[in-house]
Amino acid sequence: MSEPVQPLQAEAQTEAGDAFFELARTRRSIRVYAERLVPRALTARLIDCATRAPSNFNRQPWQFVVADEPSWCKAIYELLERGVARVGSSDKADELFHLLDHVRTWLYPLRSSPVIVLAFYKPSPERLDQMLSSANEAAGDVTHYNPNLITLGMAIQNLLLAAHAEGLSACMHSGPLPFLRGVVNRLLHLPPNLQLAGVISIGYPAEQPQVPPHRELEKVLRFLEGPVPEAWLATPTRKE
Ligand SMILES: Cc1cc2nc3c(=O)[nH]c(=O)nc-3n(C[C@H](O)[C@H](O)[C@H](O)COP(=O)(O)O)c2cc1C
Repeated sequence: MSEPVQPLQAEAQTEAGDAFFELARTRRSIRVYAERLVPRALTARLIDCATRAPSNFNRQPWQFVVADEPSWCKAIYELLERGVARVGSSDKADELFHLLDHVRTWLYPLRSSPVIVLAFYKPSPERLDQMLSSANEAAGDVTHYNPNLITLGMAIQNLLLAAHAEGLSACMHSGPLPFLRGVVNRLLHLPPNLQLAGVISIGYPAEQPQVPPHRELEKVLRFLEGPVPEAWLATPTRKE
């Protein structure tokens, strides 16, 4: 047996590697912003970086709608507040009380954020994706295969890192999604099949949150080593 690898002790191979690792390590979800506008060209640069992400068959299934004027940010925030209130008032049995309470508690970054990005993806109607999903199911896998959603997630991560690199900060929010979906498409005259999958607040940071707990690498990383077991050499079989 070889010694466990200590990747965190490994030297970066290049200066760019060092800088990038530091950027990824120090990125934080920032939820309190300075009262300072973000130049539109800078926001556009971040979105440009988002759209450099890899995508399934290079489909680039994303669309970004950005509010960077106070009146538009307020309009989105208030739409969201009304959406939460509407669901709350129709929840007679208080079944959603805890969920709504949680969502309300976490809306504050969107109230003070100078930029709000609505990130949409177009679900894939492609035959190949359907075939892959069917193949998953046939193999006993119940996980829904959603490559275009994964693709949007990759683009959003580019956006978050680019914001951090440019001295800005950002936070991805999924809490607001159920309260904006559909209605925002109608108001923006977007096709109903374009799915809102991320709301991202961006601004200059006005807080320094604690570094959240981070699962140790040893718990999430495993290198395969040693002789390959017999079972691996057999023909793959369906799940029992
Ligand atoms: C898919 C996704 C959804 C998230 N939704 C929310 C959200 O609704 N509200 C929020 O304040 N943060 C949200 N976050 C941010 C996480 O809370 C945050 O990434 C996590 O606590 C780790 O902190 P860090 O980003 O500073 O490393 C979300 C992050 C992801 C990736």
